[in-house]
Amino acid sequence: MDDKKFYITTPIYYVNGAPHLGHAYTSIAADVLARFKRLDGYDVRFLTGTDEHGIKIFQTARDQGITPIELCDKHAQDFKDILPLLNISNDDFIRTTEDRHKKGAQAFWQKLADADTIYKDSYSGWYAVRDEAYYNEDELIEKDGAKCAPTCAPVEWMEEESYFFNLSKWEDRLLKFYDDNPDFIQPASARSEVVAFVKGGLRDLSISRTSFDWGVPVPNDEKHVMYVWLDALSNYITALGYPDADAKLMDFWPANVHLVGKDIMRFHCIYWPAFLMAAELPLPQKVFCNGWWTVDGEKMSKSLGNVLSPQDLVNKYGLDQLRYVMFRMVRFGNDGDFDQARAVELINAFCANSLGNLAQRTLSFIAKNAGGVVPKGGVSRNFDGLTNYKVELNNQSFDKALTILEEESNYWNKYVDENAPWTLRKEERFEEMENVLYNICEGMRQIAIATQPFMPTKMNELLDLLAVPKDERLFKHIDVAFALKSGTFLPPPQALFPRLDQE
Ligand code: MSP
Repeated sequence: MDDKKFYITTPIYYVNGAPHLGHAYTSIAADVLARFKRLDGYDVRFLTGTDEHGIKIFQTARDQGITPIELCDKHAQDFKDILPLLNISNDDFIRTTEDRHKKGAQAFWQKLADADTIYKDSYSGWYAVRDEAYYNEDELIEKDGAKCAPTCAPVEWMEEESYFFNLSKWEDRLLKFYDDNPDFIQPASARSEVVAFVKGGLRDLSISRTSFDWGVPVPNDEKHVMYVWLDALSNYITALGYPDADAKLMDFWPANVHLVGKDIMRFHCIYWPAFLMAAELPLPQKVFCNGWWTVDGEKMSKSLGNVLSPQDLVNKYGLDQLRYVMFRMVRFGNDGDFDQARAVELINAFCANSLGNLAQRTLSFIAKNAGGVVPKGGVSRNFDGLTNYKVELNNQSFDKALTILEEESNYWNKYVDENAPWTLRKEERFEEMENVLYNICEGMRQIAIATQPFMPTKMNELLDLLAVPKDERLFKHIDVAFALKSGTFLPPPQALFPRLDQE
């Protein structure tokens, strides 16, 4: 059973604002994979949550005249609220202000200290609050005459007593690990960037702060709080019960996939594996770095007023349509523009004109002309793209996986046109007509099961319309051994997808 475990995580989100499309994106991607693996027979653990410490949260709360925990409670709730809105099937939601996390993060620190990887010194250098990141002088760029981070975040000079993690000592071991595990960092462009950065030399990492106290206290030194990234990264194990030796959930470690945005690749592909090696814990199998959404070529930002809200997009397109189009429009791993006209085009092409139309015309024809039951027929064609579909999903190549579904749906639409059941009926060739209709229904059953990770609600409806038993909707049931049974009563047909108008 061990090899059938699958652990997937999203980044934990900063609670300094409300969730937007960028946050929804990683969460939906993780949800698609979690659903896929569950349907494929895996024991899945899917974690998401919120990152609530650090100077950014501390300052935001101060600016709003509230306490940090008030700010955290408010926005952690916003992040929890979008989960049902997006139909996210997470098994746990961790907040870094919870006791279970703080205890685990402190134990993790202690483990690093016991391994002699931590020492006290003083830090002087640049810090970008927005990124919660340290930058070297040579990484800074100039914007409007001021120094800023390569991400354009403002930087400030910082000098304080600090604990350090001996990151520089892990350089060779990291490079060897990347070499031995060529799939650890995806996509390939992210991998090259990380490898080049590590080869350029790593400096020891400051892992504590003394100038504010909104963080997890450093064990045995109350003056210091843990650097927010050490605190945050450890959520992936504290949520499994680390350091409790009996924690059953630790069987899920190491994670199969950490999904992260490309902006936080350095933390996940360099710091995190180094911390884990130092703590003698196994390393995750893969970190997949997704790209960024822009709007009309611009970064989404509050000041530009172009932030896309998940709620608005769900209202506009429908949830499953949004879940489909985000992964069809732009290859996962690439940056892309959220072009609304293109979104409507893609949704109409697949949802309304291909799959929806297939279901609508076949099922209403059956209701009118074939007694409203599964027609008489034998065993139909097996979904031959299934193997490749699974390969693409396992590689996070969502767009390619969706193309396979589209081809399958188009195949059956063409089959309807070529075999014209309406003509067969007119010519009173009833047996052939029944057989053709049966084949289409069986084809739809197979597509609907396979499409569930992307469109769980709509495919559930389609499977209901086809009277597929609830306990026969796993990937193993796609096989014709579980084909539809002729004569089964079908519920009255209903349209699945409305055609969207271009505004
Ligand atoms: N708290 C850290 C993560 C800690 S994980 C141990 C963080 N939080 S965040 O809220 O700023 O970002 C969370 C995720 O949202 C990141 O993966 C980031 O890349 C993603 N996105 C934020 N804006 C985005 C877009 N415009 N487009 C796509 N994803 C974007 O970083």
